[in-house]
Amino acid sequence: RRVIRFARQGGTVIDDFGPTELWEPATRRDPHAFYARVRAAGRPVPQYDPAGNRFWIVARHADVLEGLQHPEIGHELHRHVEPDLSPSAYPPSETERISSRQLIALDPPDHTRLRRLVSTAFTARTVARLEDWIAGVAAELVTHVRALGRFDAVTDLADPLPVNVIAQLVGVPDEDRARFRDWSATIVSASDYDGAATLAFADYVDELAARRRADPRDDLISALVAQEAQGDALDRDELVAMVQLLLIAGQETTVDVIANSLRLLLTHPEQWHDLLADPALAGAAVEETLRFRGPVEIVPPRFAFRELDLAGGTIPAFERVGLSLWGANRDPEVFSSPDMFDLHRADVAGHIAFGYGTHFCLGASLGRLEARLMLEAVARELPGLELTAEVDDVRLHHGGALPLQIGRT
Ligand code: HEM
Repeated sequence: RRVIRFARQGGTVIDDFGPTELWEPATRRDPHAFYARVRAAGRPVPQYDPAGNRFWIVARHADVLEGLQHPEIGHELHRHVEPDLSPSAYPPSETERISSRQLIALDPPDHTRLRRLVSTAFTARTVARLEDWIAGVAAELVTHVRALGRFDAVTDLADPLPVNVIAQLVGVPDEDRARFRDWSATIVSASDYDGAATLAFADYVDELAARRRADPRDDLISALVAQEAQGDALDRDELVAMVQLLLIAGQETTVDVIANSLRLLLTHPEQWHDLLADPALAGAAVEETLRFRGPVEIVPPRFAFRELDLAGGTIPAFERVGLSLWGANRDPEVFSSPDMFDLHRADVAGHIAFGYGTHFCLGASLGRLEARLMLEAVARELPGLELTAEVDDVRLHHGGALPLQIGRT
């Protein structure tokens, strides 16, 4: 174990954090030890990413909450620095223009307006109406893997669910689903280097919006275009950006939660058996997975719009702030025995795996519903499930897999 030691010397804090530790292999193997040291340091810890940008890492629960709600921490740095007077030689490309309109990258007041428009269409009722449909898809996937006998929980079970749910929610007709899935796989995996998939996808969303304007249905696109009649609506880029964001934000996160909840349950067999005995625990298992190993380690970076005090230290003006959800969700000031996975814990509700405040996950109830229905279906239909290899984590960006087999029941 490393010893935490720091001393104040002429106003400079000396300690034993390396400048790029967050990204180093030892930290990747055990990130929670790093965040425990950041919490103990009692100040934001500067770390340089591989591109050389300095981030100020914050990991205590109370401090992450403060950072998420801070009115002078946000995304649109260009509104707060001296305007660059040199005219840009190139106008933004269409893909750049569209991604700059994503809700997740905007601050109030633009964020407020877009969020209100989409929230009106994306209500708890809309999500609840999908329950039977999602349960049906989960059941089909479980039947499919049972026939396989041996399978990968990422590819065969978790991955196909969210993209189909988003297609259903948005209102993509059956005959277009295969195209929609192809584009989204390319866009979500960030392998759309020439922007071709993004542009084809944008044209498709445009065309679907036109069809729904003429012939509305009971879906999200129809609800969004219906607002045009009330004089307030998403413009074309905003509509495309919104559907694209739903895919990006709702796909890997949900796959990650499903895969890691199965991994955590199967590696804690007494809790897996508790779930088999009482499938109503599926929701609690999802919450504890979100706390113990949520899909978002650090929220998308924000900037300090001026020099400000946070987490016991000072963040210089215009620098990046790295608010760690993994650090917050293992804070012993909020969770008892935070490094224990325990689906029966009483304090799980304090987790902030979906963020907090302005950008609180728009799809939280949908993501929770998908993961819970999948766990219920697996617990009901595949009680003999076994891991066929030791897997200590499922990291989707690193080819993460979860090899399973249907054992004896
Ligand atoms: C935002 C986590 C699923 C759509 C966020 C944020 C987090 C998060 C931490 C806040 C980011 C920030 O503060 O910058 C998760 C987790 C999921 C999940 C753990 C697991 C199931 C989904 C799903 C959808 C979705 C299923 C939609 C279909 C969004 C959107 C935002 C967002 C649109 C941006 C909200 C805004 O900027 O106002 N999510 N998400 N997420 N999420 Fe999720």
